[in-house]
Amino acid sequence: MKVMVVGSGGREHAIIKKIKENKNVEQIYCLPGNGGIAADAQCVDIGAKDIEKIAAFAAENGIDYAVVAPDDPLVLGCVDALEAKGIPCFGPEAKAAIIEGSKVFSKNLMKKYGIPTAGYETFSDMEKALEYLETAPIPTVVKADGLALGKGVIIAQTRDEAKAAVVSMMQDKQFGASGENIVIEEFLEGPEVSVLSFTDGKCVVPMISSMDHKRAGDNDTGLNTGGMGTIAPNPYYTKAIADRCMEEIFIPTMNAMNAEGRTFKGCLYFGLMITKDGPKVIEYNCRFGDPETQVVLPLLESDLLEVMQAVTEERLSDMEVKFSDRSACCLVMASKGYPVAYEKGHVMEIPEDVLECTYVAGASLKDGKLLTNGGRVLGITSVAPTLKEAIDASYEKARRVKCDNLFYRNDIGQRALKALV
Ligand code: AMP
Ligand code: GLY
Repeated sequence: MKVMVVGSGGREHAIIKKIKENKNVEQIYCLPGNGGIAADAQCVDIGAKDIEKIAAFAAENGIDYAVVAPDDPLVLGCVDALEAKGIPCFGPEAKAAIIEGSKVFSKNLMKKYGIPTAGYETFSDMEKALEYLETAPIPTVVKADGLALGKGVIIAQTRDEAKAAVVSMMQDKQFGASGENIVIEEFLEGPEVSVLSFTDGKCVVPMISSMDHKRAGDNDTGLNTGGMGTIAPNPYYTKAIADRCMEEIFIPTMNAMNAEGRTFKGCLYFGLMITKDGPKVIEYNCRFGDPETQVVLPLLESDLLEVMQAVTEERLSDMEVKFSDRSACCLVMASKGYPVAYEKGHVMEIPEDVLECTYVAGASLKDGKLLTNGGRVLGITSVAPTLKEAIDASYEKARRVKCDNLFYRNDIGQRALKALV
Protein backbone atom coordinates (compact mmCIF):
# COMPACT_ATOMS: atom_id res chain seq x y z
CA MET A 1 0.00 0.00 0.00
CA LYS A 2 1.02 3.55 -0.68
CA VAL A 3 -0.04 5.94 2.05
CA MET A 4 0.07 9.74 1.99
CA VAL A 5 0.06 11.95 5.08
CA VAL A 6 -0.64 15.67 4.70
CA GLY A 7 1.10 17.93 7.23
CA SER A 8 4.56 18.67 8.61
CA GLY A 9 4.75 18.57 12.40
CA GLY A 10 5.39 16.26 15.33
CA ARG A 11 1.83 14.99 15.10
CA GLU A 12 2.38 13.90 11.51
CA HIS A 13 5.65 12.24 12.46
CA ALA A 14 3.84 10.28 15.20
CA ILE A 15 1.10 9.22 12.77
CA ILE A 16 3.68 8.11 10.20
CA LYS A 17 5.74 6.10 12.68
CA LYS A 18 2.59 4.31 13.82
CA ILE A 19 1.31 3.65 10.29
CA LYS A 20 4.71 2.17 9.40
CA GLU A 21 3.99 -0.68 11.83
CA ASN A 22 1.39 -2.00 9.38
CA LYS A 23 2.94 -4.76 7.27
CA ASN A 24 0.97 -3.87 4.15
CA VAL A 25 2.50 -0.41 3.93
CA GLU A 26 5.20 -0.23 1.27
CA GLN A 27 5.65 3.49 1.00
CA ILE A 28 4.65 6.61 2.92
CA TYR A 29 4.71 10.09 1.43
CA CYS A 30 4.49 13.18 3.61
CA LEU A 31 3.33 16.51 2.10
CA PRO A 32 5.34 18.58 2.87
CA GLY A 33 6.94 16.83 5.89
CA ASN A 34 10.21 18.09 7.36
CA GLY A 35 13.87 17.15 7.67
CA GLY A 36 13.22 14.81 10.60
CA ILE A 37 10.16 13.14 9.09
CA ALA A 38 12.33 12.40 6.04
CA ALA A 39 13.87 9.50 8.00
CA ASP A 40 10.49 7.74 8.00
CA ALA A 41 8.67 8.96 4.89
CA GLN A 42 9.37 10.41 1.49
CA CYS A 43 8.78 14.14 1.86
CA VAL A 44 7.22 15.92 -1.11
CA ASP A 45 7.44 19.67 -1.45
CA ILE A 46 3.72 20.45 -1.66
CA GLY A 47 2.23 22.71 1.01
CA ALA A 48 -0.55 21.38 3.25
CA LYS A 49 -2.93 24.09 2.04
CA ASP A 50 -2.30 23.47 -1.66
CA ILE A 51 -5.41 21.33 -2.07
CA GLU A 52 -5.35 20.99 -5.85
CA LYS A 53 -1.70 19.94 -5.94
CA ILE A 54 -2.24 17.45 -3.11
CA ALA A 55 -5.17 15.82 -4.91
CA ALA A 56 -3.25 15.74 -8.21
CA PHE A 57 -0.19 14.21 -6.52
CA ALA A 58 -2.31 11.50 -4.92
CA ALA A 59 -4.01 10.60 -8.20
CA GLU A 60 -0.77 10.59 -10.20
CA ASN A 61 1.13 8.48 -7.69
CA GLY A 62 -1.44 5.77 -7.07
CA ILE A 63 -2.01 6.62 -3.40
CA ASP A 64 -4.17 3.95 -1.76
CA TYR A 65 -4.96 5.83 1.42
CA ALA A 66 -4.58 9.42 2.58
CA VAL A 67 -4.48 10.94 6.06
CA VAL A 68 -5.13 14.69 6.26
CA ALA A 69 -3.82 15.77 9.65
CA PRO A 70 -3.87 19.59 10.06
CA ASP A 71 -6.90 21.85 10.52
CA ASP A 72 -6.35 24.17 7.54
CA PRO A 73 -6.52 21.61 4.73
CA LEU A 74 -9.47 19.87 6.40
CA VAL A 75 -11.43 23.12 6.66
CA LEU A 76 -10.42 23.98 3.08
CA GLY A 77 -11.88 20.71 1.76
CA CYS A 78 -8.79 18.58 1.20
CA VAL A 79 -10.70 15.37 1.99
CA ASP A 80 -13.48 16.38 -0.41
CA ALA A 81 -10.89 16.95 -3.17
CA LEU A 82 -9.22 13.59 -2.55
CA GLU A 83 -12.54 11.74 -2.41
CA ALA A 84 -13.49 13.35 -5.73
CA LYS A 85 -10.46 11.53 -7.17
CA GLY A 86 -11.60 8.27 -5.60
CA ILE A 87 -8.92 8.20 -2.88
CA PRO A 88 -10.02 6.84 0.50
CA CYS A 89 -9.17 9.29 3.29
CA PHE A 90 -8.97 9.67 7.02
CA GLY A 91 -10.40 13.02 8.06
CA PRO A 92 -13.69 14.90 7.91
CA GLU A 93 -15.09 16.58 4.82
CA ALA A 94 -15.21 20.40 4.94
CA LYS A 95 -18.86 20.46 5.96
CA ALA A 96 -17.94 18.51 9.12
CA ALA A 97 -14.55 20.17 9.72
CA ILE A 98 -16.53 23.37 10.37
CA ILE A 99 -16.89 22.06 13.95
CA GLU A 100 -13.35 23.45 14.41
CA GLY A 101 -13.36 25.97 11.56
CA SER A 102 -16.10 28.10 13.09
CA LYS A 103 -16.51 28.64 16.82
CA VAL A 104 -19.86 30.35 16.16
CA PHE A 105 -20.99 27.11 14.47
CA SER A 106 -19.74 24.86 17.27
CA LYS A 107 -21.18 27.01 20.06
CA ASN A 108 -24.57 27.16 18.33
CA LEU A 109 -24.44 23.40 17.77
CA MET A 110 -23.83 22.77 21.46
CA LYS A 111 -26.62 25.13 22.47
CA LYS A 112 -29.11 23.57 20.02
CA TYR A 113 -28.37 20.02 21.17
CA GLY A 114 -27.88 20.68 24.89
CA ILE A 115 -24.18 19.78 25.00
CA PRO A 116 -22.51 21.30 28.11
CA THR A 117 -20.25 24.26 27.32
CA ALA A 118 -19.51 27.76 28.62
CA GLY A 119 -22.40 30.26 28.27
CA TYR A 120 -21.78 32.66 25.39
CA GLU A 121 -22.92 35.36 22.97
CA THR A 122 -21.84 35.73 19.34
CA PHE A 123 -21.22 39.04 17.59
CA SER A 124 -20.72 40.24 14.02
CA ASP A 125 -21.00 43.92 15.03
CA MET A 126 -18.15 45.44 17.05
CA GLU A 127 -20.26 48.14 18.71
CA LYS A 128 -22.69 45.53 20.01
CA ALA A 129 -19.82 43.42 21.35
CA LEU A 130 -18.34 46.44 23.17
CA GLU A 131 -21.73 47.36 24.60
CA TYR A 132 -22.21 43.80 25.86
CA LEU A 133 -18.82 43.97 27.60
CA GLU A 134 -19.99 46.95 29.70
CA THR A 135 -21.94 44.54 31.91
CA ALA A 136 -20.51 41.08 31.09
CA PRO A 137 -19.10 39.10 34.03
CA ILE A 138 -15.30 39.40 34.33
CA PRO A 139 -12.98 37.53 33.69
CA THR A 140 -14.36 36.75 30.27
CA VAL A 141 -13.11 34.95 27.19
CA VAL A 142 -13.01 36.49 23.70
CA LYS A 143 -12.62 34.10 20.76
CA ALA A 144 -12.20 34.73 17.06
CA ASP A 145 -14.66 32.63 15.07
CA GLY A 146 -12.21 31.11 12.59
CA LEU A 147 -8.83 29.38 12.66
CA ALA A 148 -6.09 31.54 14.19
CA LEU A 149 -3.11 29.24 14.77
CA GLY A 150 -4.32 28.63 18.31
CA LYS A 151 -3.91 32.33 19.13
CA GLY A 152 -7.50 33.50 18.68
CA VAL A 153 -8.49 33.03 22.33
CA ILE A 154 -8.02 35.85 24.84
CA ILE A 155 -8.72 35.31 28.53
CA ALA A 156 -9.48 38.86 29.66
CA GLN A 157 -9.02 39.64 33.35
CA THR A 158 -10.44 43.15 33.00
CA ARG A 159 -13.16 44.86 30.97
CA ASP A 160 -10.53 46.97 29.17
CA GLU A 161 -8.54 43.91 28.18
CA ALA A 162 -11.68 42.29 26.77
CA LYS A 163 -12.54 45.42 24.81
CA ALA A 164 -9.02 45.66 23.44
CA ALA A 165 -9.27 42.05 22.26
CA VAL A 166 -12.56 42.77 20.50
CA VAL A 167 -11.11 45.84 18.76
CA SER A 168 -7.97 44.02 17.65
CA MET A 169 -10.02 41.15 16.21
CA MET A 170 -12.93 43.05 14.65
CA GLN A 171 -11.45 46.43 13.72
CA ASP A 172 -7.71 45.86 13.34
CA LYS A 173 -8.33 42.41 11.81
CA GLN A 174 -5.48 40.80 13.76
CA PHE A 175 -6.66 37.38 12.57
CA GLY A 176 -7.98 38.52 9.19
CA ALA A 177 -11.38 37.09 8.23
CA SER A 178 -11.21 34.71 11.24
CA GLY A 179 -12.11 37.65 13.50
CA GLU A 180 -15.05 39.04 11.52
CA ASN A 181 -17.32 37.19 13.88
CA ILE A 182 -16.46 36.57 17.52
CA VAL A 183 -17.68 34.62 20.52
CA ILE A 184 -17.61 36.10 24.02
CA GLU A 185 -17.99 33.40 26.62
CA GLU A 186 -18.13 32.64 30.28
CA PHE A 187 -14.80 31.99 32.01
CA LEU A 188 -14.71 28.43 33.32
CA GLU A 189 -12.39 26.91 35.89
CA GLY A 190 -11.10 23.41 36.43
CA PRO A 191 -8.51 20.99 35.12
CA GLU A 192 -8.39 20.52 31.35
CA VAL A 193 -8.49 17.17 29.62
CA SER A 194 -7.95 16.39 25.95
CA VAL A 195 -9.82 13.41 24.56
CA LEU A 196 -9.17 12.42 20.98
CA SER A 197 -11.69 10.00 19.53
CA PHE A 198 -12.20 7.92 16.42
CA THR A 199 -15.64 8.27 14.93
CA ASP A 200 -17.25 7.06 11.74
CA GLY A 201 -20.58 8.77 12.39
CA LYS A 202 -22.05 5.55 13.79
CA CYS A 203 -20.02 5.14 16.96
CA VAL A 204 -17.43 7.10 18.92
CA VAL A 205 -14.34 5.37 20.29
CA PRO A 206 -12.44 7.63 22.70
CA MET A 207 -8.68 7.23 22.80
CA ILE A 208 -6.66 7.40 25.98
CA SER A 209 -7.01 10.82 27.66
CA SER A 210 -4.18 13.33 27.78
CA MET A 211 -3.13 16.68 29.23
CA ASP A 212 -1.58 19.48 27.21
CA HIS A 213 0.62 22.27 28.63
CA LYS A 214 -0.28 25.30 26.54
CA ARG A 215 1.72 28.13 28.12
CA ALA A 216 5.33 28.78 27.15
CA GLY A 217 6.66 29.08 30.71
CA ASP A 218 6.88 26.93 33.83
CA ASN A 219 3.84 26.86 36.13
CA ASP A 220 1.57 27.92 33.28
CA THR A 221 3.06 31.36 32.84
CA GLY A 222 3.82 33.23 29.63
CA LEU A 223 2.08 33.20 26.29
CA ASN A 224 -0.14 30.50 24.87
CA THR A 225 1.66 28.19 22.46
CA GLY A 226 0.68 25.27 20.26
CA GLY A 227 1.54 23.06 23.27
CA MET A 228 4.82 22.58 25.17
CA GLY A 229 4.30 19.01 26.27
CA THR A 230 1.72 16.36 27.03
CA ILE A 231 1.17 13.40 29.31
CA ALA A 232 -1.22 10.47 29.09
CA PRO A 233 -3.38 9.23 30.63
CA ASN A 234 -4.80 12.35 32.31
CA PRO A 235 -5.41 11.58 36.02
CA TYR A 236 -8.37 13.99 36.17
CA TYR A 237 -10.21 11.87 33.63
CA THR A 238 -11.68 9.29 35.98
CA LYS A 239 -13.98 6.46 34.94
CA ALA A 240 -16.97 8.41 36.29
CA ILE A 241 -16.03 11.52 34.28
CA ALA A 242 -15.39 9.39 31.18
CA ASP A 243 -18.85 7.84 31.46
CA ARG A 244 -20.47 11.26 31.78
CA CYS A 245 -18.50 12.57 28.80
CA MET A 246 -19.62 9.66 26.65
CA GLU A 247 -23.25 10.19 27.56
CA GLU A 248 -23.44 13.97 27.75
CA ILE A 249 -20.86 15.06 25.17
CA PHE A 250 -19.37 12.46 22.79
CA ILE A 251 -22.48 10.62 21.58
CA PRO A 252 -24.63 13.80 21.54
CA THR A 253 -21.99 15.56 19.41
CA MET A 254 -21.87 12.71 16.89
CA ASN A 255 -25.67 12.63 16.74
CA ALA A 256 -25.86 16.43 16.41
CA MET A 257 -23.49 16.42 13.44
CA ASN A 258 -25.50 13.63 11.80
CA ALA A 259 -28.75 15.53 12.40
CA GLU A 260 -27.23 18.61 10.75
CA GLY A 261 -26.28 16.59 7.67
CA ARG A 262 -22.61 17.01 8.57
CA THR A 263 -21.58 13.47 9.54
CA PHE A 264 -18.11 13.61 11.08
CA LYS A 265 -15.66 10.88 10.12
CA GLY A 266 -12.10 10.98 11.38
CA CYS A 267 -10.53 12.07 14.65
CA LEU A 268 -12.82 14.29 16.68
CA TYR A 269 -10.94 16.03 19.48
CA PHE A 270 -12.76 17.12 22.61
CA GLY A 271 -11.04 19.85 24.62
CA LEU A 272 -12.77 19.53 27.99
CA MET A 273 -12.77 21.35 31.28
CA ILE A 274 -13.80 19.42 34.37
CA THR A 275 -15.76 22.13 36.21
CA LYS A 276 -17.52 21.78 39.54
CA ASP A 277 -20.73 21.39 37.50
CA GLY A 278 -19.25 18.53 35.49
CA PRO A 279 -17.34 18.24 32.22
CA LYS A 280 -17.85 20.99 29.64
CA VAL A 281 -16.56 21.45 26.11
CA ILE A 282 -13.95 24.19 25.73
CA GLU A 283 -13.32 23.46 22.08
CA TYR A 284 -13.67 20.88 19.37
CA ASN A 285 -10.88 20.12 16.93
CA CYS A 286 -11.56 18.26 13.70
CA ARG A 287 -8.23 16.40 13.87
CA PHE A 288 -5.57 14.81 16.01
CA GLY A 289 -4.21 17.27 18.58
CA ASP A 290 -0.59 18.33 18.56
CA PRO A 291 1.24 17.38 20.84
CA GLU A 292 -1.49 15.11 22.30
CA THR A 293 -1.00 12.67 19.43
CA GLN A 294 2.64 12.23 20.43
CA VAL A 295 1.57 10.58 23.71
CA VAL A 296 -1.69 8.95 22.60
CA LEU A 297 -0.43 7.00 19.57
CA PRO A 298 2.62 5.50 21.30
CA LEU A 299 0.14 3.95 23.77
CA LEU A 300 -2.13 2.59 21.02
CA GLU A 301 -1.70 -1.17 20.79
CA SER A 302 -4.06 -1.69 17.85
CA ASP A 303 -3.01 -1.16 14.24
CA LEU A 304 -3.58 2.53 13.48
CA LEU A 305 -4.02 2.13 9.74
CA GLU A 306 -6.60 -0.63 10.21
CA VAL A 307 -8.57 1.53 12.64
CA MET A 308 -8.41 4.48 10.24
CA GLN A 309 -9.62 2.35 7.34
CA ALA A 310 -12.48 1.09 9.50
CA VAL A 311 -13.48 4.72 10.12
CA THR A 312 -13.45 5.45 6.40
CA GLU A 313 -15.52 2.37 5.67
CA GLU A 314 -17.92 3.02 8.56
CA ARG A 315 -17.21 -0.26 10.33
CA LEU A 316 -15.49 1.14 13.41
CA SER A 317 -17.86 -0.74 15.75
CA ASP A 318 -16.28 -4.02 14.52
CA MET A 319 -12.80 -2.93 15.59
CA GLU A 320 -11.09 -3.47 18.87
CA VAL A 321 -9.18 -0.28 19.72
CA LYS A 322 -6.80 -1.14 22.52
CA PHE A 323 -4.49 1.07 24.58
CA SER A 324 -1.57 0.15 26.79
CA ASP A 325 -1.98 0.59 30.54
CA ARG A 326 1.38 2.36 30.68
CA SER A 327 1.97 6.14 30.76
CA ALA A 328 3.58 8.52 28.31
CA CYS A 329 5.21 11.94 28.43
CA CYS A 330 6.07 14.12 25.43
CA LEU A 331 8.46 16.96 26.19
CA VAL A 332 8.59 19.66 23.51
CA MET A 333 11.89 21.37 22.76
CA ALA A 334 11.21 24.74 21.12
CA SER A 335 13.33 27.51 19.63
CA LYS A 336 14.26 30.24 22.13
CA GLY A 337 11.77 33.09 21.75
CA TYR A 338 8.86 30.87 20.66
CA PRO A 339 5.92 31.61 20.37
CA VAL A 340 6.98 35.11 19.29
CA ALA A 341 10.20 35.62 17.33
CA TYR A 342 12.85 32.95 17.02
CA GLU A 343 15.87 32.02 14.92
CA LYS A 344 16.13 29.06 12.62
CA GLY A 345 19.06 27.07 11.31
CA HIS A 346 20.77 26.03 14.55
CA VAL A 347 22.51 22.65 14.36
CA MET A 348 21.21 19.89 16.62
CA GLU A 349 23.13 16.87 17.78
CA ILE A 350 20.74 14.17 18.86
CA PRO A 351 22.01 10.80 20.12
CA GLU A 352 20.60 7.84 18.18
CA ASP A 353 18.57 6.42 21.09
CA VAL A 354 17.03 9.87 21.71
CA LEU A 355 16.16 10.34 18.05
CA GLU A 356 14.38 6.99 18.07
CA CYS A 357 11.74 8.30 20.45
CA THR A 358 11.63 11.84 19.07
CA TYR A 359 8.92 13.24 16.84
CA VAL A 360 10.39 16.02 14.76
CA ALA A 361 8.12 19.06 14.52
CA GLY A 362 10.31 21.66 12.82
CA ALA A 363 13.69 20.76 11.37
CA SER A 364 15.49 20.85 8.07
CA LEU A 365 18.18 18.48 6.89
CA LYS A 366 21.52 19.77 5.63
CA ASP A 367 24.58 17.64 4.93
CA GLY A 368 23.13 14.86 7.07
CA LYS A 369 22.59 17.18 10.06
CA LEU A 370 19.27 18.28 11.50
CA LEU A 371 18.84 22.06 11.86
CA THR A 372 16.11 23.84 13.79
CA ASN A 373 13.46 25.12 11.42
CA GLY A 374 10.39 26.17 13.39
CA GLY A 375 8.98 27.26 16.75
CA ARG A 376 8.37 23.82 18.13
CA VAL A 377 11.27 21.67 17.01
CA LEU A 378 11.31 18.28 18.79
CA GLY A 379 8.90 16.24 20.86
CA ILE A 380 10.66 13.65 22.99
CA THR A 381 8.26 10.90 24.01
CA SER A 382 8.86 8.24 26.62
CA VAL A 383 6.56 5.41 27.58
CA ALA A 384 6.98 3.74 30.97
CA PRO A 385 5.04 1.76 33.58
CA THR A 386 4.43 4.93 35.61
CA LEU A 387 3.98 8.60 34.71
CA LYS A 388 6.93 9.61 36.90
CA GLU A 389 9.26 7.25 35.03
CA ALA A 390 7.98 8.48 31.66
CA ILE A 391 8.58 12.12 32.67
CA ASP A 392 12.06 11.40 34.04
CA ALA A 393 13.00 9.49 30.89
CA SER A 394 11.96 12.34 28.58
CA TYR A 395 13.93 14.91 30.62
CA GLU A 396 16.97 12.66 30.71
CA LYS A 397 16.88 12.43 26.92
CA ALA A 398 16.26 16.14 26.42
CA ARG A 399 19.39 16.94 28.43
CA ARG A 400 21.43 14.93 25.94
CA VAL A 401 20.24 16.94 22.91
CA LYS A 402 22.96 19.40 21.98
CA CYS A 403 21.74 22.68 20.49
CA ASP A 404 22.36 26.26 21.58
CA ASN A 405 18.93 27.61 20.72
CA LEU A 406 16.36 25.29 22.26
CA PHE A 407 14.38 25.52 25.50
CA TYR A 408 11.79 23.41 27.26
CA ARG A 409 9.46 23.70 30.21
CA ASN A 410 10.77 22.15 33.40
CA ASP A 411 7.41 21.10 34.81
CA ILE A 412 5.70 18.97 32.15
CA GLY A 413 3.53 16.43 33.96
CA GLN A 414 4.07 17.86 37.47
CA ARG A 415 0.43 18.90 37.91
CA ALA A 416 -0.67 15.42 36.84
CA LEU A 417 1.79 13.81 39.28
CA LYS A 418 0.33 15.89 42.13
CA ALA A 419 -3.17 14.82 41.14
CA LEU A 420 -2.12 11.19 41.40
CA VAL A 421 -1.14 11.31 45.07
P1 AMP B 1 -8.80 26.98 22.75
O1 AMP B 1 -7.88 27.45 21.65
O2 AMP B 1 -10.25 27.19 22.47
O3 AMP B 1 -8.45 25.59 23.22
O4 AMP B 1 -8.45 27.87 24.02
C1 AMP B 1 -7.13 27.96 24.47
C2 AMP B 1 -7.13 27.84 25.96
O5 AMP B 1 -7.83 28.93 26.53
C3 AMP B 1 -7.83 26.59 26.51
O6 AMP B 1 -7.01 25.47 26.52
C4 AMP B 1 -8.18 27.04 27.90
O7 AMP B 1 -7.06 26.93 28.75
C5 AMP B 1 -8.49 28.50 27.72
N1 AMP B 1 -9.94 28.72 27.59
C6 AMP B 1 -10.67 28.69 26.47
N2 AMP B 1 -11.97 28.91 26.74
C7 AMP B 1 -12.06 29.10 28.07
C8 AMP B 1 -13.14 29.37 28.98
N3 AMP B 1 -14.40 29.51 28.56
N4 AMP B 1 -12.83 29.50 30.29
C9 AMP B 1 -11.57 29.36 30.74
N5 AMP B 1 -10.52 29.11 29.94
C10 AMP B 1 -10.75 28.98 28.62
N1 GLY C 1 -2.84 20.77 21.48
C1 GLY C 1 -4.03 21.42 21.09
C2 GLY C 1 -4.33 21.38 19.65
O1 GLY C 1 -3.86 20.56 18.91
O2 GLY C 1 -5.09 22.23 19.22
